[in-house]
Amino acid sequence: MAPRKIIIDTDPGQDDAVAILLAFGSSELEVLGITCVAGNVPLALTQRNARIICELAGRTDIPVFAGAVRPMVRPLVTAENVHGKSGLNGPELWEPTMPLRKEHAVDFIVKTLRTQRDGVVTLCVLGPLTNIALALIKAPDIAEHIHEIVLMGGGCFEGGNITPAAEFNIYVDPHAAKVVFQSGIPLVVMPLDLTHKALTTRSRIERFKNLGNKAGIFTAEMLDFFERFDMEKYGSEGAPLHDPNVIAYLLKPEMYKGREVNIEIETESALTMGMTVVDWWRVSGREPNAMFMREVDDDAFFELLFERIGRL
Ligand code: BDR
Ligand code: CA
Repeated sequence: MAPRKIIIDTDPGQDDAVAILLAFGSSELEVLGITCVAGNVPLALTQRNARIICELAGRTDIPVFAGAVRPMVRPLVTAENVHGKSGLNGPELWEPTMPLRKEHAVDFIVKTLRTQRDGVVTLCVLGPLTNIALALIKAPDIAEHIHEIVLMGGGCFEGGNITPAAEFNIYVDPHAAKVVFQSGIPLVVMPLDLTHKALTTRSRIERFKNLGNKAGIFTAEMLDFFERFDMEKYGSEGAPLHDPNVIAYLLKPEMYKGREVNIEIETESALTMGMTVVDWWRVSGREPNAMFMREVDDDAFFELLFERIGRL
């Protein structure tokens, strides 16, 4: 079977980096490009980090683009407290030599969707939705060419991780999220409810280290750093490994369980800004606009990561 074509839109971030490595290790997927956005750290760092990951995996053939430097309306909020100053703290980093493409990320997304028509491209979104919303505003015709958007963001029963009500990716650019959730494009949402069940325990980090290849050791070093903040915050055995669930869903959808629901994004209330209002019990009468995943088989998820990152 021909590999599934994807664009990864991302703000690396250690968990974004693991997601990208998972995609690179999986022959079922063809990464058409990586588009970067400001989020965990400013854009200058997220695009640099994306190129570091490509070089680590020997995939300097993958085009990397820089996109939006800030959210559509609100000022940028970053998360160095979680990811470190570089966004990728843990392993020793280097200055990447592979070039950043000159084209803007939004233009790459638009051009790709106009040439690769008939719903063959899936957008995998691992950060704030700014680039995707801007592409949809610039070229509304692309909506019908998108197979689906699979994104990490939001929460329902689990609450928020940046405010009591909001998850980071949606909170950073709620206006962009609103554009995407109202677009009518098929959406699959990987929220905190699910990612908080995919924890980087000590033994799992050891497994990455023992893969013995560069990507495995780099992953272990990233997760070693990443885990500190979240373990303290949640009092849990490890940190949630959020973003790789987006890619894992494409590879093994049977690991996930969820429900078609209506999701609206709060963009007005100061108290609940960026909240995903999930109509889990279908009480609003609003039409479902997303598949909201709530369960993951976490052992199978990590086995998939070990296997695929081990191939790099
Ligand atoms: C999301 O926010 C970022 O910190 C992570 O990379 C992930 O995409 C989790 O809320
Ligand atoms: Ca991310």
